[in-house]
This record gives sequence, C-alpha cells and structure tokens, in this order.
Amino acid sequence: MDETRGRITRDGIRIHEDADFAGMAAAGRVAAEILDLIGPRVAPGVTTEALDDFIMQEVTRRGVISATIGYKGYRHVSCISVNHVVCHGIPGPKTLKDGDILNIDVTVIVDGWFGDTSRMYVAGDLPRKSERLIQVTHDALMKGIEAVRPGNTFGDIGHAIQTYVEAQRMSVVRDFCGHGLGRVFHAPPNVLHYGRPGTAAVLEEGMFFTIEPMVNLGRPETKVLADDWTAVTRDKSLSAQFEHSVGVTATGCEVFTLSPAGLFHPTWGRAE
Ligand code: MF3
Ligand code: CO
Ligand code: CO
Repeated sequence: MDETRGRITRDGIRIHEDADFAGMAAAGRVAAEILDLIGPRVAPGVTTEALDDFIMQEVTRRGVISATIGYKGYRHVSCISVNHVVCHGIPGPKTLKDGDILNIDVTVIVDGWFGDTSRMYVAGDLPRKSERLIQVTHDALMKGIEAVRPGNTFGDIGHAIQTYVEAQRMSVVRDFCGHGLGRVFHAPPNVLHYGRPGTAAVLEEGMFFTIEPMVNLGRPETKVLADDWTAVTRDKSLSAQFEHSVGVTATGCEVFTLSPAGLFHPTWGRAE
C-alpha cells in the first residue's frame, strides 16, 4: 500500500492524486450496488440480522472486504439503525414492523479503497411524518454536497446542512460526524453537519470524505446504549441518515457512492 504519494495539508487532510479517484469510484460503486439490492427485502417480519446476512453474501460473492467486521470489535457487515436509533445499530433478531424506517450503512474495501454509504429504507407503509423526515435528511445531504468545491470550507458544508434542516423545524445531530477516508476508513477531517460559513479547513481538489447527516424529528441529543455501539435519540424521536463518499474535483465534487439503479431514496423506484 503506497501511503507516501500525495500531500497532507496543515489540517492533516490527505490530498489524493487524479488516479486515486478511480479507486474510490470502484469501491463506492460496490457499496452502492449492494445497497441497491436491499430495498425489496425490507418488509414487516424480516429481522435486521437477516438483512445483514444477505449483505454479507453479496460482499463475499463480489470478493471484496468488509470494513466494519473487526473494526473496534464490531462484528457485522452493516449497521442497521431502526426508528429512534441514530446510527451504529447492531443487526439482531428483532423483526421489523409496518411503518418502521431504517438506515443501512455499508463500508467495503475494494483494492485498498474504502467505499462508505448509507440510505434509508421503509418496512411496509411509510408514515407521513417519517416520509418528511427522510425527505429533509436526503435533501440536507444534497445541500451539503452542493457546497463541495475548492475554496469553500467545511464550515460551508455544515452550514448548508444545518440551516436547511432547522428551517424545517428538525434538528441536526452533533455527536457524530462525517470523516475523511480513502485508503483508510476514518481520517481527518471531522466533517460536521452544522457550522458557520467560512470556518474550518478550506476544501482542496483531491480531498476524499463522507457527508452523512443524521437528522432528528425532536431534539438533537443522543446517548449510546450499554452495548457500546447503538446510538439513540435521548427523547426517543425518530432519526434518519443518508451518507455519500465524495471527492473534491477542480470544479466541484464527484460522488463515489451514487446508486447505479437510481434507488438512493426509498421512494424512488417504488410502484405508485
Ligand atoms: N460506516 C460508518 C460510518 O459511516 C461506521 C461504522 S463503524 C461500525 O462511518 F463499526 F459501527 F460498523
Ligand atoms: Co462514514
Ligand atoms: Co457509513
């Protein structure tokens, strides 16, 4: 593994080479392809560990590596966060019920590059309030992505997300953030989903990172359960999250984890 090429900024952020974009695109595509297969399997009565088993099969079939198995002792190929679980939900024997909303987060390593993405899914009928939460969270990620271009700052990304979410009277989680990635899973910077314009590090071509806003219907505070992973909203309000891995280009950004089937949002591709 060649970690010596390229440059590290004063903020500790790696500047990747042009050729590295292809590696990230390949890794991001595999993660997104796997997420594309899950929608039809999410239904009332299904357990989250059955979904995780299916993802494991797909990872194995493609001959790629799970970034999460063995990561800080984590034992699953996905995180599955249902309803008021904010993130890092552990797949288990609990069955989904009608109207549950869930985030599924998958990170794979392909030829040494990390592709990290997550989306929302719905079991059965989507309640109106949950639909609004999911839409706002999705659109918040897109507002963040629109702020990615050389010369803008990470504060600009956070500000774009925060102002959009709060204008909808929802809240942005502060306790978890996006992260640099590339040939490593989690690297500088912390990508905050809130902030002030013009603050934090300046974006440069060749930076790779995730944007993964978590949005709550209620208050932003979270707590981690006794399993040391599962983060939930303190007020038990519903939470949603979407995540893309992106790279800064000369003029804007490349999204590495776009859905090849156009299924990033849970209502896309659904029969009316
Ligand atoms: N994929 C998650 C992220 O977006 C990290 C999961 S780490 C795990 O950064 F160990 F919980 F799987
Ligand atoms: Co991530
Ligand atoms: Co992730």
